[in-house]
Amino acid sequence: MKILLDESACQGHGRCYEIAPEVFTDDDRGHCRLVAADVSGRLADLASAAARACPEDAITVED
Ligand code: F3S
Repeated sequence: MKILLDESACQGHGRCYEIAPEVFTDDDRGHCRLVAADVSGRLADLASAAARACPEDAITVED
């Protein structure tokens, strides 16, 4: 599964890296950065949950 992050949409809500810290991390402003852009299995499930949880819809996942 591929993960796409729209950095311009991210407002730093932080749900992504709380839910999936192996996939997302934060920068010095608390905004999201990708740790992994292509994941499978458990990490894909977590990445999907993080995408659903982002209030700004900044994360997109593609099979
Ligand atoms: Fe940003 Fe959404 Fe994560 S606003 S910090 S991508 S929960």
